[in-house]
Amino acid sequence: MTDQIPSKLNSVQLSQLRCIGCDSVFEKTAQNFRCARCGHLLEIVYPDWNTSDATRFDAATLKNLWRQRRASRFPIDESGVWRFRELLPSFDEKDVISLREGNTPLYEMRDCARVAGLPQLYAKHQGMNPTASFKDTGMTVAASVARREGFRWVACASTGNTSASMAAYAARGGMRSLVLIPEGKVSWGKLSQALDYGAVTCQLKTDFDGCMRVLNEVVQRMPIYLLNSVNPYRLEGQKTTAIELMEQLDWQPPDHIIVPGGNLGNSSALGKAFIEMKQLGLISRLPKVSIIQAAGANPLVRTMRENGGKELISVRAETAASAIRIGNPASWKKAVRVLQATSGTVDEVSEVEIALAKAEIGADGIGCEPASAVTLAGLKKLVKQGFVKPGESVILIVTGHLLKDPEFTLKFHRGDLFSGTASEEEVSILRPQQRAPIVLDATVDAVIQALKAADDQLEL
Ligand code: F0G
Repeated sequence: MTDQIPSKLNSVQLSQLRCIGCDSVFEKTAQNFRCARCGHLLEIVYPDWNTSDATRFDAATLKNLWRQRRASRFPIDESGVWRFRELLPSFDEKDVISLREGNTPLYEMRDCARVAGLPQLYAKHQGMNPTASFKDTGMTVAASVARREGFRWVACASTGNTSASMAAYAARGGMRSLVLIPEGKVSWGKLSQALDYGAVTCQLKTDFDGCMRVLNEVVQRMPIYLLNSVNPYRLEGQKTTAIELMEQLDWQPPDHIIVPGGNLGNSSALGKAFIEMKQLGLISRLPKVSIIQAAGANPLVRTMRENGGKELISVRAETAASAIRIGNPASWKKAVRVLQATSGTVDEVSEVEIALAKAEIGADGIGCEPASAVTLAGLKKLVKQGFVKPGESVILIVTGHLLKDPEFTLKFHRGDLFSGTASEEEVSILRPQQRAPIVLDATVDAVIQALKAADDQLEL
């Protein structure tokens, strides 16, 4: 290893599981990761961080150490998650299952800035992870726990990305994996990943929320380790996206982070990271973390608007952004805390707004899957409402790769995404973004004519 780790940072990191509802502390978790006393979710806390031993976490030392590790060839240093292991539960290096996750780019989005009405805009592209979504950053930690605890089987309910990621990490760690997905509601890209990585893949005749209900029963009866984001180790790994982002921004927090909301694990994880970084003196202030949902799958938006976040209002979810087609999000309470602690907001966007924003992110040469595009669609609204001001810095968290859902993209460009739906009348605003493939005779003239027609179109 190239770096010299100060001995204090090398010491074992004490972590505990604490209930977010009643503050009870546990050494070990139940199979469903819920508090045995009140049923709320658990989170990981680090009791040492509250001690007065300030030298343990000298911010400048940590920043230096993490920077040095970028030049290291040590496998866990090459991971954009484990590079930040001082802010994670302790692990023996031999227990870590890693695909060199994290290390994702921060892109400037020129055209998207313009459509949003901002001088500048950046996107952190979590679709550039090994299985092409943000899930890998959490999966490396939680799958490593599963193996360390001796589980032969891991399982998740999923809208597609969690299952793809889990199946890959299970295979790398020599474990078997069980996937429960809603039949007909998972994109083929994601489904094919789970199959190829060797998961036992069950398509249940229900939605995501139904899959989750079934799985919760299965893990009570069988020795299977649950890898959904109710597992707090998933969120610890996903925290590192925010840490890596701060490093990319020279530790200057932006004004706003915009993140899609589904089961609400990711927004909870990012918020936890910012709060912890502030607590440890790594950043001086908190960005506002705002969560955007599809209007057809908006339980958090309704919960915040109708009761200020006190009690979850579940909905029957429906959206073509299948990754976030979730009506009963598990981590809603954690997400509410993040909104409150960071003064962020929630909003919802329509199917047409999602489709347009996805095409705009694509036209910037980046691309993403539909669920990720709610960030840009939501940002446009937040700018119009004045919640985001033109001079403020904004980072979109782009959660999944364009190639995750090619069917959506093809339908969009061919113009039949909304055929036979209630949105059919609004689609005229999508036309300028649509680029249907052109079928031609195999002649030079035909191609040149198509080129000229496209060029004329540009000049209009
Ligand atoms: N974006 C993408 C691409 C996702 O796959 C998900 C969730 C989200 C956003 C929302 O994140 O659930 O943490 O609020 N996908 C899960 C899955 C549910 O099973 O793949 P969240």
